[in-house]
Amino acid sequence: MQQINIIDAPKHVDEEVKIGVWLTDKRSSGKIAFLQLRDGTAYFQGVVVKSNVSEEVFEIAKKLRQETSFYVTGVIHQDKRSHFGYEIEVSNLEVVGESEDFPITPKEHGIEFLLDNRHLWLRSRRPFAIMRIRDELIRATYTFFHQEGFIKFDAPLLTGTAPEGTTELFATDYFDTEAYLSQSGQLYEEVGAMAFDKVYSFGPTFRAEKSKTRRHLTEFWMIEPEMAFMHQEESLQIQERYIAFLVQSVLDNCQYELKLLDRDPEILARYTKTPYPRISYDEAIKLCQEGGIDIQWGDDFGAPEETYISDQFEQPVFVLNYPKAIKPFYMKSHPTRDDLYICADMLAPEGYGEIIGGSEREADYDKLKAEMVKKGLDLEAYDWYLDLRKYGSVPHAGFGLGLERAITWICHLDHLREAIPFPRMINRLRP
Ligand code: 4AD
Repeated sequence: MQQINIIDAPKHVDEEVKIGVWLTDKRSSGKIAFLQLRDGTAYFQGVVVKSNVSEEVFEIAKKLRQETSFYVTGVIHQDKRSHFGYEIEVSNLEVVGESEDFPITPKEHGIEFLLDNRHLWLRSRRPFAIMRIRDELIRATYTFFHQEGFIKFDAPLLTGTAPEGTTELFATDYFDTEAYLSQSGQLYEEVGAMAFDKVYSFGPTFRAEKSKTRRHLTEFWMIEPEMAFMHQEESLQIQERYIAFLVQSVLDNCQYELKLLDRDPEILARYTKTPYPRISYDEAIKLCQEGGIDIQWGDDFGAPEETYISDQFEQPVFVLNYPKAIKPFYMKSHPTRDDLYICADMLAPEGYGEIIGGSEREADYDKLKAEMVKKGLDLEAYDWYLDLRKYGSVPHAGFGLGLERAITWICHLDHLREAIPFPRMINRLRP
């Protein structure tokens, strides 16, 4: 008899199979027991009919506890009423591992309790669906950039520079000096673009965010593409193609997970259509002011402003060309407005705020150096970065997508902490 995973049950209708499972819940009467089963690939129901099995098997079924692991044997049938659409009519059960009282029961639990028990909570349906969508987005990312001619070029995680500003750095002893945990791979991706044309990094990123918000983690994963011989316009087009591709991949391959999360695929389908709308920073400030928000030109957008702006659009929206004072040094100066950089943030719809930050890079040695001096950077620490402008500098652009921000939006979650297996936040380092 074949051993299968639940996910493959549709290929084995009317066949007898064996599956290694855990019990998530159970209901039983004198004559029949309904076992809710999971095996890490899907959730479905096992039906144990007393008259069809030995007395011993029915007794085992009745006594099974939540999270007991066992092999179940039986015939697969269609079950149109369930999420999954199939069930197993049980003929035999063999217990593998007994379970103590499982802390996460089918009733509602508070979020702090669930996070304290993240190592066990991950077995539940909601994290199951989110982590599978996370995996889909990771796979789609590799596929997309491979198709577009990029190579993956890994940036170091221990660094000596701070591309996104010095206030959010995690420092660590590094022999007789200090190192920082990477807050962006971008500067190294620029190196890569000069050597390999189109590159991207995808790795953990660290920011000592002291604020507790639903949009910030201290450790998150960022995808950072960088393209040589490319201006901002082409970069924006890659960004919208990439986001549309991610959403389409989830629609193509994660319908079951979307159903578990109650996420309406028709809403997501809107985001597969490009181009996305664009407004300038100047226009976005005006839009907020007209909406009664107290904000002045020169201010950065916080969560309420980003939500307000994105609420005016049905798709992700690009906000273009921010004031220099609120963005990092490496961005290219605007050709006609000396107070602006050529950059863009992409804001996700439905109130999710910024998911991408990107820009054209300053390719001119003197202009870049002047900007660094103005922003008080230690030029010596960046000598290798400045070198890129000395030896055949070319226009180049890039961007960074926060993976957890994308997951939170696509899965329609309230908080980034559910978008990563083990969230790291100001007050959470365990499990
Ligand atoms: O806008 P950011 O800071 O841009 C950069 O780091 C650039 N170096 C990217 C580049 O051009 N290569 O961050 C980029 C994205 C944000 O849009 C957001 O999605 C995510 O990274 N992000 C965070 N995600 C979770 N927690 C945090 N604390 C985040 N900070 C930024």
